[in-house]
Amino acid sequence: MHVALIMDGNGRWAAARGWPRLAGHREGAKAVRRIVEAAPGLGIATMTLYAFSSDNWGRPPREVAGLMRLFRAYLAGEAQRCVENGVRLRVIGRRDRLPEVLLRQMRAAEEATAGGTRLTLRIALDYSARDALMRAAALAEGDSREDFALALGRAMGEDEPAPDVDLLVRTGGEQRLSDFLLWECAYAELYFTPLAWPEFDPTALGRAVEWFQGRERRFGRLMSA
Ligand code: IPE
Ligand code: IPE
Ligand code: MG
Repeated sequence: MHVALIMDGNGRWAAARGWPRLAGHREGAKAVRRIVEAAPGLGIATMTLYAFSSDNWGRPPREVAGLMRLFRAYLAGEAQRCVENGVRLRVIGRRDRLPEVLLRQMRAAEEATAGGTRLTLRIALDYSARDALMRAAALAEGDSREDFALALGRAMGEDEPAPDVDLLVRTGGEQRLSDFLLWECAYAELYFTPLAWPEFDPTALGRAVEWFQGRERRFGRLMSA
């Protein structure tokens, strides 16, 4: 099962406590750790986390810089844990606008965790689904959906097809996709929760998975009794 998570609501969660937005992002990083550890036990083989959208560059420079620092700290602190837990970490998105130190850490984490087989953890950084689709359209050879999915994977720096999403979860109360995995979510089940990302925990993820398991997925066909 491929679960995609839009980790939203960090800023509002912090503001509600009178804290700076970055404090919300720091708590959010802790939530990521809990969720990653719980994922394999819930039957999740692939998880894609929306960490920074290409449109997030439009936020105040201080917040952007703070987020970049957090990503570096996360990768530095988690790579070893990922190795121990059998997590293969991949970063998807553009790689030409991120700070060089972060890029180095991304490459190191990807290399160190390449052998992981329990969970593929994809982190979307400087990611825009529309930009990825445009690049894929220029790269695509062949005219089947499979050909295009491979081009889309390659457009994001992967050497494998972009995987379809089974369950999309968005925290923070908004009900929109915000330019995340537009192709891959064609038949995704959509789950929205008012919980802010820093409050999201394995129990909440388990509830989303349970809800997903009760859905009847028809893929355009009919299900007979
Ligand atoms: C999501 O939380 C994290 C990022 C976009 C990096 P937000 O920062 O969007 O938090 P809200 O939505 O303003 O509460
Ligand atoms: C989407 O959240 C991006 C991430 C969670 C990284 P945003 O907070 O940026 O999206 P909008 O602005 O509410 O659509
Ligand atoms: Mg938001």
